Amino acid sequence: MTPPPDRRPQLLIVDDNRDLAENLQDIFEPRGFAVRFTPSAREGLALARAEGFDLAMVDVNLPDASGADLLPALRDASPLGEVVLITGHATLDSAVAAVRGGAFQYVVKPFKVDELVATVEAALRQGTLRREREALAQQLAASERRYRDVVESSKVLVLGIDTRGIMHLFNRRAAELTGLTPEEALGRPALDLLIPADSRERVQNHVRATLAGAPPGEFEAPLLIKDGRSRTVRWHVVVASAERPTASDEIAAYAVGTDVTDRRALERRAAEAEALAHMGTLAAGLAHEVRNPLNAALLQLHLLGRGIAKVTTEERDPLLGRARIVEAELKRLERLLSDFLELARPRPMAREPIDLAGLLDEVASFQEPAAAAAGVTLVRRIAVSRAVGDRERLKQVFHNLLVNALEATPQGGVVTVSCHRSADEPDATVVISDTGRGIPSGTLERVFEPFFTTKEAGTGLGLSIVRQIVERHGGAIDLESAEGRGTRVTLSLPATGRSH
Ligand SMILES: Nc1ncnc2c1ncn2[C@@H]1O[C@H](COP(=O)(O)OP(=O)(O)O)[C@@H](O)[C@H]1O
Ligand SMILES: [Mg+2]
Repeated sequence: MTPPPDRRPQLLIVDDNRDLAENLQDIFEPRGFAVRFTPSAREGLALARAEGFDLAMVDVNLPDASGADLLPALRDASPLGEVVLITGHATLDSAVAAVRGGAFQYVVKPFKVDELVATVEAALRQGTLRREREALAQQLAASERRYRDVVESSKVLVLGIDTRGIMHLFNRRAAELTGLTPEEALGRPALDLLIPADSRERVQNHVRATLAGAPPGEFEAPLLIKDGRSRTVRWHVVVASAERPTASDEIAAYAVGTDVTDRRALERRAAEAEALAHMGTLAAGLAHEVRNPLNAALLQLHLLGRGIAKVTTEERDPLLGRARIVEAELKRLERLLSDFLELARPRPMAREPIDLAGLLDEVASFQEPAAAAAGVTLVRRIAVSRAVGDRERLKQVFHNLLVNALEATPQGGVVTVSCHRSADEPDATVVISDTGRGIPSGTLERVFEPFFTTKEAGTGLGLSIVRQIVERHGGAIDLESAEGRGTRVTLSLPATGRSH
């Protein structure tokens, strides 16, 4: 945008006094100016629009307009040029109006040549500065655009936060992943908006340490997304280049994040499968061996109970009580062994048409007394649906999920069992949801691990089995949970067999 250095400055004179104009020409042409002359506002403007100017000297009293009125149009025609108004009789008011209107100066006839030349040179310097500033601003804008394009088109999340953690940059990928618009995110505290409560302190410590000068570290944290779920993001925090002291609302650090949810889930699945395979070989054999003596013990206990029942002394009832406790414990052990064997050495699956609605009804009815005793409302929304697979296995799936839901739900809560199949979907959908305590985001990813339990008497095998069975049916399972609000498990089961 700066003119080539060898270009002569263009001086446009708009004045109906031909003698004066020629005079000015004689003054400025020897000083290296290209001078053009025109006697009217209309022609002056036409010339300015056609060729532009570096400096225009305009008479205030033109035959067809006032110079002051012409000023805005001239500035429009050549935005980087300067305008000097000439008049024979100055008043303070007209001078002020001229300068307000954008004139560089106001000169009064008759003028001294030296002063006029000085004014013109000052005006040109001003013009040059303005052009330089304009060029720099454009360069800056272009460079900003380049950075913005890189940041916006990037597949990683980029956030910019100030020293208080307020967001001033929230790129497109961050918006996509979180479901938040930039308007919803900018100006808000990043931690509160994006990190679940139970991870905030840890993340804040990382960011603080980085801001305080620790080497930029990487860490993983759950990312809250708009619908209440979370993803796992690996973050890298870097301090913004500290050329200037950081004002409180300037970006102090950038957080660059990659969504590693799927990668971590795959790694976990691989590790779990490997762990199961290891256990499977050795421990499944052992479990099998334990099962026989266990069954023998249960049988003997049962006989013992019958024997005790015949005793007539007052010792009978306490003895019977103890025997029942032992029996209950042995049965629990028996169930644990069956679950474990099922998981480690799954038997072949049946493939038969199943009335899903009937099966769900049956499982729900079985749990009805337990729900009533716990003061939990069990709601059924069961529409006719079918699936193909193994009835006993699916029964176990629904049972495990329903028991988990009931165990998590306090008195007064609601557990809902629903199933439906929309006409355009090949899969039946079963949803078991509760208004119970929910699962903290930090443990959400662990609930499918074999033996992961938060219950005193839990085996931690329920959900592992559920997932294994659902996947062997060619179906899918999705678990969503919000701590303190509840959990929802959604199963989709192929209505036509594609089980394996
Ligand atoms: N509906 C639910 N609400 C809250 N937490 C649940 C729910 N379902 C499962 N969990 C959590 O997942 C863990 C593992 O569940 P599971 O595999 O069935 O084993 P277990 O029930 O023996 O603990 C539970 O201990 C519990 O912490
Ligand atoms: Mg369970």
